[in-house]
Amino acid sequence: MERKKITIQRLQQKKDTGKKITMLTAYDYFMAKMVDGAGIDAILVGDSLGMVVLGYESTTQVTMDDMIRHTMAVKRGAKTALLIGDMPYKSFETAGKAVENAKRFIKAGCDAVKLEGESPDATTAIIKEGIPVLGHLGLTPQTAPEFKVQGKDAASAKGILSASSRLEKTGCFAIVLECVPAELAAMISSRLSIPTIGIGAGPYCDGQVLVLNDILGLYDKFMPRFVKRYANLGDAAMKAISAYKEDVETGKFPKSEHSFRIKKEELEKLK
Ligand code: KIV
Repeated sequence: MERKKITIQRLQQKKDTGKKITMLTAYDYFMAKMVDGAGIDAILVGDSLGMVVLGYESTTQVTMDDMIRHTMAVKRGAKTALLIGDMPYKSFETAGKAVENAKRFIKAGCDAVKLEGESPDATTAIIKEGIPVLGHLGLTPQTAPEFKVQGKDAASAKGILSASSRLEKTGCFAIVLECVPAELAAMISSRLSIPTIGIGAGPYCDGQVLVLNDILGLYDKFMPRFVKRYANLGDAAMKAISAYKEDVETGKFPKSEHSFRIKKEELEKLK
C-alpha cells in the first residue's frame, strides 16, 4: 500500500492525539530510502553531515553547497517523509541571506528548514515567504562554546522556556530541544501547542530525533550519552572490507562466477 506524504499538519495531529513523532537524519540517497521505507515521519538533512560524513572537525565548516548536494541525494530516496534542511552556520545572518538560502533548500526538495537558536528577523522573513521553519533550542552546536547540557539551573531553564514560546509566536511549526533536562523539556512540551522534538531531552517530548550514523554505529569519534546504538554497522563493514582484502591477496576472489568469458573461436582470432 502506498503511504501518504507526511505533512506538517500530520505532525501537529500526532502531538494533538498523543502519538510520538519520529525523526532521523540522513545525508544520502540510500540511507534516505531506508529511513523513508521504515516509515519515519521526518528526515532532517542535518549539518551534522559535516562531522559524520564529510570528516570536518565541526559543523561550522559546513557550507550551503555541501548541504544542497546532500539534500538533493536525500530527496531522491525520500518519497514519504517530511524533508527538512538544516540551515548551516552563517547561512541566516541577515533576513535577506536567510530567505535566499531557505529557497535553495526548497528548490532542492525540502518541505521545511531548521534554524539553530533564535534569529527572529531571519525566521520571520523565511516564514513570510511561505517556507515552514523548525526551531532548535538548548544545545545549539553552531554557536555553543562547549557541548554540555543546557538549562540545568532555573535562570537558564527560564531562558530556554521563554525562547521556546517566542519561537512558537514567530510561527515555527515545531522545535528541536537538544541536550536539556527531561523536566524542562516536559514543561516546554506541555506549554507549547506546537510539537517538540527531543535529542537528549528525555522521554516527554512530542517526538525524538537522532543522528542516523550514531544509531547505526557508523560514527566512532564520540557517542553522546543520549544516543542509543541499534546496530554496529561500522564493525560489520570493517569485517567485510578485511575479508575482501584477504580474498584478493590469497586469490580467493574473483572466482569464475564473478568473471566474464570470451568464446573460444573469438579468442583464437586474437592469436
Ligand atoms: O545537525 C543535526 O543533525 C541536528 C540534529 C542533532 C537535531 O541538528
